[in-house]
Amino acid sequence: MENNPIFKIFESFPRQGPGDDEHTEKAFSIIAELPEGGGEILDVGCGKGVQTMALARLCPSCRITATDIHQPFLDVLEEKIAAEDFSWRIKTVRASMDDLPFEEESFDIIWAEGCSFIIGFENAVNYWKKFLKPGGYMMISDLFWFTESPSAEAREFFAEIDPSMMIEDKGFDIIRNAGLEQVGSFRLPSRVWEESYYSEVKGRLTGLEEEYSGDKDALVVIEVLKKEIEIFDKYSDDYGYTYSIMRKPE
Ligand SMILES: C[S@@+](CC[C@H](N)C(=O)[O-])C[C@H]1O[C@@H](n2cnc3c(N)ncnc32)[C@H](O)[C@@H]1O
Repeated sequence: MENNPIFKIFESFPRQGPGDDEHTEKAFSIIAELPEGGGEILDVGCGKGVQTMALARLCPSCRITATDIHQPFLDVLEEKIAAEDFSWRIKTVRASMDDLPFEEESFDIIWAEGCSFIIGFENAVNYWKKFLKPGGYMMISDLFWFTESPSAEAREFFAEIDPSMMIEDKGFDIIRNAGLEQVGSFRLPSRVWEESYYSEVKGRLTGLEEEYSGDKDALVVIEVLKKEIEIFDKYSDDYGYTYSIMRKPE
């Protein structure tokens, strides 16, 4: 799987998906109580760890375990950890998000920005919740439809790349049906997609096309990225990222 050119292409981006520190902080501020002396945070699908570092700054007493399947992303995060002298409280673990090598009920907070779609939101909520301590919080941000009747072009596109994408309310039902309390949610403003992610991606597309000109699989990934941006430019009212903050009962 790691030979998939998508990983190499995404290595060239500073973030691996839309989002920014302001909205990481907004989501974190919804978490009302932290254990005395900090807590244990699990950051799933952390990529190069932009939100890992934001969390570490937001909670100076927390310890963070940052996981991703792709070691080169974790290597970049390790450099950031060393640069800010956070080695004593952030560790990286290469692991698949559907096979996490941790004890049940070992984290106070589980954080997953923009990655639950990889195993599907419902699977993610139901699998990850068992790693939460009673009373612990989970934050998942991912793609949802904001309307029952999205445009046909957007629907066709996402049927290919994210077939489990659902309407936001269904996501909220999944949280409740999993026995979790939904303590807050908000949508990522569409301007943040452009500022934090698509502007970078657009700036690199031509260079990437040249770099991968002989690699058919990579060129397909680049075409899909271009199409994704085109669809977002046209239909960003129909869908976007919802940040959901949920809590496991005591
Ligand atoms: C869209 S990126 C989000 C990264 C980061 N959270 C962010 O918002 O910038 C999805 C991340 O999931 C990782 N990933 C893909 N498949 C995975 C798997 N099976 N288990 C763990 N991580 C995976 C990718 O390497 C990538 O870093």
